[in-house]
Amino acid sequence: MAKARTSFICQNCGTVHTRWVGKCEGCGQWNTIVEEDPTAGIGGGPNRTPKKGRPVALTTLSGETEDAPRIVSGMSELDRATGGGFVRGSALLIGGDPGIGKSTILMQAAAALSRGGHRVIYVSGEEAVAQVRLRAQRLGAADTDVLLAAETNVEDILATLADGKRPDLAVIDSIQTLWSDLAEAAPGTVTQVRTGVQAMIRFAKQTGTTVVLVGHVTKDGQIAGPRVVEHMVDAVLYFEGDRGHHYRILRTVKNRFGPTDEIGVFEMSDKGLREVSNPSELFLGERNAKTPGAAVFAGMEGTRPVLVEVQALVAPTSLGTPRRAVVGWDSARLSMILAVLEAHCGVRLGMHDVYLNVAGGYRISEPAADLAVASALVSSLAGLALPADCVYFGEVSLSGAIRPVSQTAQRLKEAEKLGFSRAVLPASSADLPRTGTGITWSGMESLPDVVAQIAGSRGALKQAGTDDDG
Ligand code: TYD
Ligand code: MG
Repeated sequence: MAKARTSFICQNCGTVHTRWVGKCEGCGQWNTIVEEDPTAGIGGGPNRTPKKGRPVALTTLSGETEDAPRIVSGMSELDRATGGGFVRGSALLIGGDPGIGKSTILMQAAAALSRGGHRVIYVSGEEAVAQVRLRAQRLGAADTDVLLAAETNVEDILATLADGKRPDLAVIDSIQTLWSDLAEAAPGTVTQVRTGVQAMIRFAKQTGTTVVLVGHVTKDGQIAGPRVVEHMVDAVLYFEGDRGHHYRILRTVKNRFGPTDEIGVFEMSDKGLREVSNPSELFLGERNAKTPGAAVFAGMEGTRPVLVEVQALVAPTSLGTPRRAVVGWDSARLSMILAVLEAHCGVRLGMHDVYLNVAGGYRISEPAADLAVASALVSSLAGLALPADCVYFGEVSLSGAIRPVSQTAQRLKEAEKLGFSRAVLPASSADLPRTGTGITWSGMESLPDVVAQIAGSRGALKQAGTDDDG
């Protein structure tokens, strides 16, 4: 018999090394390499004698198609994020930080589907039956027919799911606790997680049960994270939020059966997650429009407009190297905006600390926020509040030009709905509505124009730290 080959696999990114090394070449993390036997496990098996291949029938791209059959939970924010409900026979991964609310949302979804007459099995590998029951009581789900098991062994779970009537939905909470007899690695390692997930996906495809897998995102990379199985599942949703805030966002990052970039918005209460159908109202709820440094960004999340306040604080520094701190936005992008402000607008920020915060614990990923960020920064530096009824959006290029962004009409419509009457946007925006909106907009060509408009009289900015030729 051939000698068992082992590999050295990074537990953070899954890169395979031929020998043990201290630092992973794939992701640069230290001490994440673990020796594993990658050929062990369900489906794995270069040790087996290869079977002789047989040709399969080739076909064309055109032909009959049908919409994927879905089971709709009735929780509209969840259904929106999944692209209209769970697709039968598909495998979904819900990732997120520990304690963010993954088990909560899935218990609520399980209860909703069960009330709709679906057979739902909830397998908890993290909590004992009593704990799950306690949560179900809190969520008002205890009276439903959701079936519960506390189990972590892959083979036992599969046998349980296959026993009796086929379930419509099976929740596996979580993939990090799964272990299979067929894989020789320790529970929680890449090999075990992959083996378990593979087996669950195969079960979903074979039976038509929708399998929802929970995966914790770990920062230290000690336990194999959801990243290593992202490519195997049909859809990946991330549950995000700031622990200090009540808002939770379910973000679709991959979906083989629907659009990505959709979000579902929830609010954590003492009775579980409450759906938020108008997130803009929520994010703008605690707004203080009169202070300098706040700009309202008219953003888009997939097909849905989201208005959110960007807050900046620019203050003289007492440090040799001024601080730049960002919450809810990309720090590299902030550096770029600061560089453009310095180079093209004559705004000197080298002696200032810069703090940027997106209100409500929300995370912006769109470059369209550039203009709102720049406006907030200039407003804070100049000590001049921006008009309270104005929204901002547009991408800033390195040359200082304001570049157009998509879905202008939707952004304006949402702004109008929420009582805004002005917008600062790219001059070359394509789909500007001609008439009939209650919003007046100023089209901007370049960032220096925006800075000049905010400063009004150049004197205000000059005092606060600009040079002469701006
Ligand atoms: P949980 O779903 O257990 O998180 P995860 O499965 O992602 O690890 O949620 C844990 C947090 O949610 C916990 O800190 C308590 C809070 N929570 C509420 O605020 N209200 C509730 O009704 C429930 C069930 C949980
Ligand atoms: Mg949990």
